[in-house]
Amino acid sequence: MIKRNSKEFPEGFLWGGAVTATQTEGNWDVDGKGVCPPDLYAYQEGKTQNDLMSTEEIKAAIEDKVNYYPRRHAIDFYNTYPQDIALLRELGIKCFRTSINWARIFPNGDEELPNEEGLTFYDNLIDELIKNDIEPLITISHFEMPINLSMKYKGWYSREVIDFYLRYCEVLFKRYKGKVKYWVPFDEMNLIHRESFSQFGMPSDLVENSLENKLRGLHHKMIASCAATKLAHDIDENNKIAAMILTQYAYPKTSSPDDVLAALHNDQFENYYLDVLVRGKYPKTMFRFMEEQGFDIGYRLEDEIIFENGKADFIGISYYGNRTVSTESIHLENPAVDNPNIAKNDWNWLTDPVGLRYTLNKIYDQYQIPIFLMELGTGVHDKVENGKIHDRERIEFFEENLKQLKLAISDGVPIMGCLTWGPIDIVSNSSAEMSKRYGFIYVDIDDYGKGTGKRLKKDSFDWFQNIIKTNGKRIEN
Ligand code: BG6
Repeated sequence: MIKRNSKEFPEGFLWGGAVTATQTEGNWDVDGKGVCPPDLYAYQEGKTQNDLMSTEEIKAAIEDKVNYYPRRHAIDFYNTYPQDIALLRELGIKCFRTSINWARIFPNGDEELPNEEGLTFYDNLIDELIKNDIEPLITISHFEMPINLSMKYKGWYSREVIDFYLRYCEVLFKRYKGKVKYWVPFDEMNLIHRESFSQFGMPSDLVENSLENKLRGLHHKMIASCAATKLAHDIDENNKIAAMILTQYAYPKTSSPDDVLAALHNDQFENYYLDVLVRGKYPKTMFRFMEEQGFDIGYRLEDEIIFENGKADFIGISYYGNRTVSTESIHLENPAVDNPNIAKNDWNWLTDPVGLRYTLNKIYDQYQIPIFLMELGTGVHDKVENGKIHDRERIEFFEENLKQLKLAISDGVPIMGCLTWGPIDIVSNSSAEMSKRYGFIYVDIDDYGKGTGKRLKKDSFDWFQNIIKTNGKRIEN
């Protein structure tokens, strides 16, 4: 007899949505919160955020009274979360991922004791989710390092920051024991190609923006992630900890062996993060690369014990399309070339549903542990017409992607859940605009923070509600 894989979404599949603290909460300076990088990016029409900031620029942004800083206000979720969660419950979601803002809990990062007012907010938020039968999934750090750790310690460049991070983790693991089970130590650990200040908190005048320094910051973050994983397991054996990356596997531009090798190198580099967080080891290809480059990233032999003892329980991914590489694209620094076979949205972000199935299979083939799709979505320019939003484009996007997700399940990949990015409209991370909307729920706020803040259900709301209700039965495969 041949054993068959299920062709349906498994029972208990965690349908849900994901956001971050800084893209939703606003209220950046209340209840003792400290400043963190996303508070410092002003909205500039048509521009993506500058990931490099010097200490002078940081100070100037904090003092600036002229420009509009969207994430300081966002969608006011700090106050509206009970109503928003009620809407999400109506949508039917089973799981909600958000981050805790580190700077609310330790405003300066290096205090001995946490800020009770910040914790109270998250106590209430988590209780509200549980009360609504929504499983909370918490990202411990989604670009929210307290700015004092950047200015005083050079961010993740310094090893000392690991201890501050672990102190923060310990507070969360103890406080939310029995309430939160799923944790993501860091969002998208592999964003080292573009994020330098926002990802590592390293001001550009204190730490040169070189690959060597970014790899050092990353090494420290990986130590912190593995140590946090062990701590979480020690505090509560029921905790499940993710290794989380933005997947960016490569298609070779042509069938030339050199392009295929370039794609292999890309993928080995992408797997570097998972090799450390899931297998507990640096891949040998990384040692070779660092030796060739003459890099010193502060690697110590004793770090290997931390990696070995802090392996993740599952892999979390965000998916916004794969890249295409060739020998023309420079390994590590700027790896992507254009691919005429893949569609793009208004922001030139890729729409590649088949790539989702490819990615899930590829990861599972390599690591053989469950995968949680933690971000899936596409930005759309929504139009309100007579109080309605007919967002056909969003529905089509999800129809195509969920079809491929279901095919990956029939391929045998164990998938824990699917969180759509921004189920309610939020401020964009890369461009700090509101116009790049991902939600099933529209929020009446524009790029300059003007609007009533009113929430409106888009056409996709009913569509997604039905998908969840039927556990994805009507998605063809
Ligand atoms: C992910 C980030 O990479 O992309 C999110 O984790 C972000 O914070 C999401 O919002 C979508 O990006 P953007 O720039 O469209 O908001």
